[in-house]
Amino acid sequence: MTTALVTGSARGIGFAIARRLSTAGHRIIMVDLNPQIHDSAATLDAVPIQADISTIEGRDAIKDAVRSSGQTLKVLVNNAGITRDALIGDMTEETFRLVTRINLGGCFELTSALAPYMVDGGGVVNIGSRAHLGNVGQFNYAVSKAGVVGLTRSLALAYAPRLRVNGVAPGFIATDMTDAMPAHVRERIISRIPLQRPGRPDDIAGAVAWLGSDNARYVTGQVVYCCGGRSHG
Ligand code: NAI
Repeated sequence: MTTALVTGSARGIGFAIARRLSTAGHRIIMVDLNPQIHDSAATLDAVPIQADISTIEGRDAIKDAVRSSGQTLKVLVNNAGITRDALIGDMTEETFRLVTRINLGGCFELTSALAPYMVDGGGVVNIGSRAHLGNVGQFNYAVSKAGVVGLTRSLALAYAPRLRVNGVAPGFIATDMTDAMPAHVRERIISRIPLQRPGRPDDIAGAVAWLGSDNARYVTGQVVYCCGGRSHG
């Protein structure tokens, strides 16, 4: 049996990815800083790790748990991410750095830490965002997710041919993260989606499961938009 580790999987997209990979037959390790991870993991019979991917202590705890499980990873999904939106004049340096540190730094550092524990032919999938194309009020987030694209392409080169590294760039997906947006902003975004509905977490999970599987064995360094067609403008 193969093992998959998903960060930020207490809820939302990460939970849907963990559920999908579990259905695909992987043993699942679920990481989140939210204590809810214990209950979420219990529903999937998965191993929970409550840890912050953006700290050395958190990453060491994750690495130790993987090492002591005696398992190697077939799939690593870097999904944990945050938003701290503000218009440009109101964006503090602290907020800018925090979002970059978690969304981009956490993705890089955790991949570096866990790559030695991945099986040959394993797949890393990084969750970016269509917002890397640019969003008013989200320039810290857009920068962090644009970084995820460059990171994905560079890691794919660095780890080839042993591992594949790809990304998924979701558009607007109905989760707690997007529920926090003002209603008029949500409605405006949804009205511009060519497929005429918000995405669901499971829409992203399907793309992640494919990229992490051997069905995508000749795909590396790619970022797949999963946005109902909204990447066009
Ligand atoms: P969410 O806020 O519902 O879930 C994110 C999870 O990550 C939470 O459980 C949170 O506790 C965890 N997390 C945050 N920082 C962490 C850290 N430092 N260490 C460990 N866990 C941490 O968000 P959602 O919507 O499920 O998003 C998941 C990913 O998808 C994020 O990377 C987000 O940027 C990305 N995304 C989401 C979109 C959406 O429309 N919801 C659109 C594009 C990208």
